[in-house]
Amino acid sequence: MAESTSPTVIHRADYTPPAFLIDTVALDFDLAAERTTVKSTLRMRRNPEVAPAAQLELAGEQLEFVSAALNGKPHHAVQVHEHGLTLGELPGTFELTLTGHCHPAQNTTLSGLYVSSGNFFTQCEAEGFRRITWFLDRPDVMSIYTVTLRADKTAYPVLLSNGNLLEAGDLPDGRHFARWEDPFRKPSYLFALVAGKLVALEERVRSRSGAEKLLQVWVEPHDLDKTRHAMDSLIHAIQWDETRYGLELDLERFMIVAVSDFNMGAMENKGLNIFNTKYVLANPETATDTDFANIEAVVGHEYFHNWTGNRVTCRDWFQLSLKEGLTVFRDQEFSADMAGGEHNPAARATKRIEDVRVLRQMQFAEDAGPMAHPVRPESYAEINNFYTMTVYEKGAEVVRMYQTLFGRAGFRRGMDLYFQRHDGQAVSCDDFRQAMADANQRDLTQFERWYSQSGTPRVNVSTHYDAAQQRYSVTLAQRPGRPLAAPAAAEPLLIPFALGLIDANGADLPLRLSGEPHAAADTTRVLELTETEQTFVFEGITALPRPSLLRNFSAPVIVAYDYSADDLAFLLAHDSDPFNRWEAGQRLATRALLTLAEAAACGAPLHLDERFTAAFTQVLNDTSLSPAFRELALMLPSETYLAEQMTESNPAAVHQARQFVRRHLAQALQHEWGATYELNRTPGAYRATPEAAGQRALKNLALSYLAELDDPAEALRLAQAQYAAADNMTDRAAALATLISIAASSSNGNGNSEASAALDDFYRRFENEPLVIDKWFALQATQRGRAGRPVLEIVRTLMSHPAFNLKNPNRARSLIFSFCAANPAQFHAEDGSGYAFWAEQVIALDALNPQVAARLARSLELWRRFTPVLRDGMRAALEQVATQVRSRDVKEIVEKALS
Ligand code: TRP
Ligand code: ZN
Repeated sequence: MAESTSPTVIHRADYTPPAFLIDTVALDFDLAAERTTVKSTLRMRRNPEVAPAAQLELAGEQLEFVSAALNGKPHHAVQVHEHGLTLGELPGTFELTLTGHCHPAQNTTLSGLYVSSGNFFTQCEAEGFRRITWFLDRPDVMSIYTVTLRADKTAYPVLLSNGNLLEAGDLPDGRHFARWEDPFRKPSYLFALVAGKLVALEERVRSRSGAEKLLQVWVEPHDLDKTRHAMDSLIHAIQWDETRYGLELDLERFMIVAVSDFNMGAMENKGLNIFNTKYVLANPETATDTDFANIEAVVGHEYFHNWTGNRVTCRDWFQLSLKEGLTVFRDQEFSADMAGGEHNPAARATKRIEDVRVLRQMQFAEDAGPMAHPVRPESYAEINNFYTMTVYEKGAEVVRMYQTLFGRAGFRRGMDLYFQRHDGQAVSCDDFRQAMADANQRDLTQFERWYSQSGTPRVNVSTHYDAAQQRYSVTLAQRPGRPLAAPAAAEPLLIPFALGLIDANGADLPLRLSGEPHAAADTTRVLELTETEQTFVFEGITALPRPSLLRNFSAPVIVAYDYSADDLAFLLAHDSDPFNRWEAGQRLATRALLTLAEAAACGAPLHLDERFTAAFTQVLNDTSLSPAFRELALMLPSETYLAEQMTESNPAAVHQARQFVRRHLAQALQHEWGATYELNRTPGAYRATPEAAGQRALKNLALSYLAELDDPAEALRLAQAQYAAADNMTDRAAALATLISIAASSSNGNGNSEASAALDDFYRRFENEPLVIDKWFALQATQRGRAGRPVLEIVRTLMSHPAFNLKNPNRARSLIFSFCAANPAQFHAEDGSGYAFWAEQVIALDALNPQVAARLARSLELWRRFTPVLRDGMRAALEQVATQVRSRDVKEIVEKALS
């Protein structure tokens, strides 16, 4: 039974260099939706560094073989099989010409060459190129590409590929052609082509060395009015990489293309980035402040890959974090600089808080489950399953630690050396670490463990004050991640631990470690924890201080310290490190909410510590803090995060606890919420600046609290007025969410007609804007349950709405993922109805798009951590899926979950 066998596992340790090299590639496409003909001419030679191989294995999938020629003559030593071609009788150097067909219109996987809205697109990372033609489809084979595209001129007026346009012109029978050349060697995963009815916003800019560059953002004609922000983001990204890293754009033209059917966010193909429309299209009417910020980040991310990923690429896919961790770090720094510049710590902190929140909620969870893996994984069955939070977000934290250890200047020296050594090469994470070590004359052998050990380390902190000696000692003890994730042989890591000490007035103390002649100028000290346990002694401390630990989240670890509630309230009010002010509030809130959730789980009455309300009130009223910061500080930890912290995850109890706190805060601060709402209106024309976005966020948080009052009449009035008057999507969507929430929580049908009228209006208004209709689906899928009407019923009804389409990943995510991954209290219904729905959808998606199916499959992976009833339901659903799915992608996920 071939179907039931487990997928083959690939190991990092098995890497061997390629036996053949491909110097140049000439690709010739006759584009047709049903059957495209691809002729590929490869100039190849044997790799002088590798013992000669008898045969050449080329990867190919879902291809129809036509012919093979060696040096222009038909070649017959060719075996065609399911995974590609095996060729024999090959000389040392040769030209191989392969002709075949692929079937873009039938391709629902969105990997390889496919059709979306009648246009052609490609997606080749990680292993999609083999679905276009036979090739050594691995990142350490780098070649120069020339690409000729031929197609019907009316149906496909625009023909794009990587690099520079060499020539274009008409052909007989209403067809035309374009020929492109990419002057840089690249691996096959960076190949791209686009063909169809598209239009572009164009700009010409000069790079630092004076060269003129053509920038284009290509979209469908009706979307041209939503391209300005993406273009501005691209221009900012180009400038930023020049100033911060001295890295210039190396091509004459740089293109971004938006496509509505796309598996992920965007793709960094050389000179021809292809984007999910979600990360390109924005105007104030259709996109929220978050959308605007995400577009800037993703445009930056893909652009920055041009150096970190393309000019220097990965030797093999185990090194994925070499490009992804580094590029995420670069896009995080770009966004922080754009929001606050280099010298505005408070503005930078809001970005840092958002990034850490994602890391803790998503990556820490990954590290605690069956998919836990090191930043540089040791093995995989399907590489697409390893584009993970660990590789991306923890990988970015690992890169950030170099900067924390060496400073910005030292980090820059390391980057310069990395490019000096490796430009044009396919390299490993070790090569990056070596460049950082050599540029800063440091031995970073121990630091390698951050790449090889999985699990979230814990740092237990204990402190001791010796009043007589005026000494304060801080003991840091590191423990490896949870047993499920961490191998028994975990060794101590080099942990940069930033710390400050705060006196009774809230001022930072000067820091002098034992043995040092005087205190350092900086009141934040980066301690280097290298042993399992170390004690750091500070001298000249005249009174008991409060420690501010792991400032700016200087390492991806969990810090355990026995803070009192008073300590936390004090730090929330006074810490000079804005990240740790937020952190103190989160600790306070998490503690209170977990106590309540455990009480709710056993049906005990709920009481909220008044000190929590007091600390919260102080933040809300502290107008010296930016609205953006206050909104982040006042946002309670998510239900998902809280459930994960419980001894046994109980989403219903968490929901009950969190709602109890929200209602309590709504009541206790009723007048403050009202005032906050009024004070943070943003009259005048919409501006997407961080300041204005912060005000809208705080105002809309206030509105959502007012909606929790027993009498929501005022919230209903405000939300309706805000919905009607909104000139931007942030305010309109927030008003709609509030109306839905009021209707859902009322027991007597109050607000029902208002909510459904607004939903109908929203749909009609934005019927022709797919990204907004995604929001319409998502808002309904994430709503809280109403008495007697579970959200799953609404979701099932929406599945048969004419606008629903399982083949479009954005749409599938907006309804199915929103329900399964962002509405825990409803999804984890005790009757198992959510799990049955999940199984149905994973199975349906598996047949269409394995990559998307595998992402959905991951929403049950933490099943062992839940209460017994839920655990049993989840296991049954996982077992059902395991027997029915076919893709390597989903099999790997469910098999790991069940093992
Ligand atoms: N390399 C891309 C990025 O991070 C992401 C990516 C990997 C991707 N595989 C993909 C995008 C498949 C779309 C489809 O920028
Ligand atoms: Zn990337």
